[in-house]
Amino acid sequence: MRFILFLTLMLALGHGMSHSARAQDKDIALATAPMLAENGFLKYVLPRFSLKTGLSIAHEPIAAGVVGDVVISNQAPETSMAQTRPLMRGRGQVFYAWAARSGKDADRLVGWLYSDIGLRTIQAFQIDGEQAFFAVEQAAEAPQALVLPGDIAQGEILSFQNCGRCHVIGDRNRMKGLGSTPSFGLLRTFDNWLERFQTFYVLNPHPSFAQVLGITGPFNPQLPPPISPLVLTQGELESIIAYVATIPLADLGAPLVHQ
Ligand code: HEC
Repeated sequence: MRFILFLTLMLALGHGMSHSARAQDKDIALATAPMLAENGFLKYVLPRFSLKTGLSIAHEPIAAGVVGDVVISNQAPETSMAQTRPLMRGRGQVFYAWAARSGKDADRLVGWLYSDIGLRTIQAFQIDGEQAFFAVEQAAEAPQALVLPGDIAQGEILSFQNCGRCHVIGDRNRMKGLGSTPSFGLLRTFDNWLERFQTFYVLNPHPSFAQVLGITGPFNPQLPPPISPLVLTQGELESIIAYVATIPLADLGAPLVHQ
């Protein structure tokens, strides 16, 4: 509201004022790509920041001689000091926001724009009923620690009992696995190791001898398991997976070099 009042006031007072005078009694001077004022983006987003913080913002299109405390531009900032991470994309462009003159209020606006709430506000803005701008995907954050429901200690016992006759699982059965069968440490190096373990019972060779109660059907009486069957509950499989998640990845070493 205050912002709209300000805008009306400025329109009424006319164009004679210099840029700096315009921004004088505002907390933050914002210079933006002209498009963002023209399509209503600023009018939508800025009052939501002002409402939250009580800080008022005067905005002007980026132009020679316009000095903003904060800049939102469709070009990356030139100074290496500034935030260079893109803020959003839309209308065929990528936009960046940064504090051109560092100060508490300027930093606060930039921080808000990049925050979850700021990005949500940006993404809620619509033109003709459609979302106009999208938060730019950030580089992958540190992978979330995997939260698996199973019981790790029980999973260790179950793994050695049920899988250890073929797979090398750890030091305890290092010499016992079948040579042609990948060790769990090796399987762990696959990006999709979790998916493979969650579905191991449909991946060969397991379907002929493995059952997960409630998931797989009973064995075909015509094709009895060739080896003593492996039967797990879903909870037991979860525990095995929780344990497997703790197994160190096999060190595959340097690639083989043929001499
Ligand atoms: C009778 C031997 C045997 C038993 C018992 C066994 N596996 Fe396997 N498993 C294999 C063999 C052989 C392969 C390799 C298959 C291949 O490379 O095509 C394999 C592969 C896998 C793979 C990778 C599958 C893929 O296609 O990516 C997973 C995951 C796996 N086993 C999990 C388990 C789990 C969990 C258990 C115990 C609950 C278990 N296995 C018990 C023989 C066995």
